[in-house]
Amino acid sequence: MNTEIGTDLSKALILLQSGQTVAVPTETVYGLAADANNDDAVLDIFKAKGRPTSNPLILHFASLAQALPYIEVFPEVFQKLASVFCPGPLTFIVPKSSLVSPLITGGQDTVAIRFPKHPALQELLSALGRPLAAPSANLYGQLSPTTATHVLEQLTGRIPYILDGGACWEGLESTIIGLENERVLIYRHGGVTTEALAEVLGYNPAAKVHEHNGVLTSGMVKHHYATHTPLFLGFKPANENQNALQITIGKNELITGPHLVLSQDAALTEAARNLYAALHEADTAQVEKIYVEPFPNHGLGLAMNDRLSRAAAKFAR
Ligand code: TXA
Ligand code: MG
Repeated sequence: MNTEIGTDLSKALILLQSGQTVAVPTETVYGLAADANNDDAVLDIFKAKGRPTSNPLILHFASLAQALPYIEVFPEVFQKLASVFCPGPLTFIVPKSSLVSPLITGGQDTVAIRFPKHPALQELLSALGRPLAAPSANLYGQLSPTTATHVLEQLTGRIPYILDGGACWEGLESTIIGLENERVLIYRHGGVTTEALAEVLGYNPAAKVHEHNGVLTSGMVKHHYATHTPLFLGFKPANENQNALQITIGKNELITGPHLVLSQDAALTEAARNLYAALHEADTAQVEKIYVEPFPNHGLGLAMNDRLSRAAAKFAR
C-alpha cells in the first residue's frame, strides 16, 4: 500500500467514510483513526499498529452532544471538568452504551471518550457525524508521533493517508481519568496536570496508573513509548565510553558530546511539546545510548517521567 501525506480534508473524509484508516493530527499526538461504527475498519487499526485487540481504543467526538448516545452516563463531575478542559487533552472512562462495539473496549463495559482540540480533526468529526476510534499513530510499544513525518517513519505502507496538521502543540497524550467511589482517579498522566484537575475538583485526584479493573491497558504496560536505542533516565556518567546522546530539560553548558535541549528556558510546557520529537531525533542520531534528564515530579513532569520510565524499562537489566 502506498502511504500519502497531505492536507486534503475531503480526501481524509472520503477514506474514513469508506472504511479505511487515516492518520489524523490532534493537539496531543497523531492518532490512527477509523470509523468507530465499522468493525472491519477498527480491526485495520489494530493490524496497522501491530497492537493486541485486548487494548481498548479511545473514541473521539466533536462534542458532548455527539457522544451522549454512545455512553450510559456522563457524571456531573465530568461535565464540570469538560466545561473547563474540553475540547482538550482529557479522556473520560464512562459506562458504554450498546452502540459501542466490544472491539473498541476490549470487551469491557466502559469506554474511553475524548474531545480533541485540533481544528482539522474537529472539522472531520463534524463532517463525519460519527465517532473516530484512534490510538496514537505509532507501531505498538514504540514512540508516539507528534508530526506527520513521525507517522510516516513507522506506518509507511500500512495506511493509505496521513492528514498533515502540523506539529502537535501539546506533545503528550491526553490525561485519562475515571470515577471510582465518587472520586476522580487518574489512569494515565498527560496533557492536563493533576494540579489543574485538583483546582477544579477541590481535592487531589489519586493516580492509579498501573492497572484498571485488572485489565492491562497499553499506556499501563511497563515497556512502552520506547526508542530502539537503549534509553536511560539520568545524566551520562563521566566514564561513559559509548557514543551517548544526552537530552536535558534546559540549557546545560556542562554537557559534552551529542546533546539535545528540550526548552532553552527549561519550561515544562515547551519541553512536553518537544519531548517525542527529541526522542525520535535521538533515536536516528546513530548513537549507542540515550540519556534523559529526569523531570521534576509535578505538573507535566509527571506525565513525561511516566513515559520515559516505561521506555527505559525495556532496557533495564
Ligand atoms: O492523546 C491521546 O489520548 C491520543 C490521541 C490520538 O487522542 N490517543 C492515545 O491512544 O493515546 P492510545 O490508544 O495510544 O492510548 C489510550 C489508552 C490506552 O492505554 C488504552 O488502553 C486506554 O486508553 N483505554 C481505552 N479505553 C479504556 C477503558 N475502557 N478503560 C481503561 N483504559 C482504557
Ligand atoms: Mg499510544
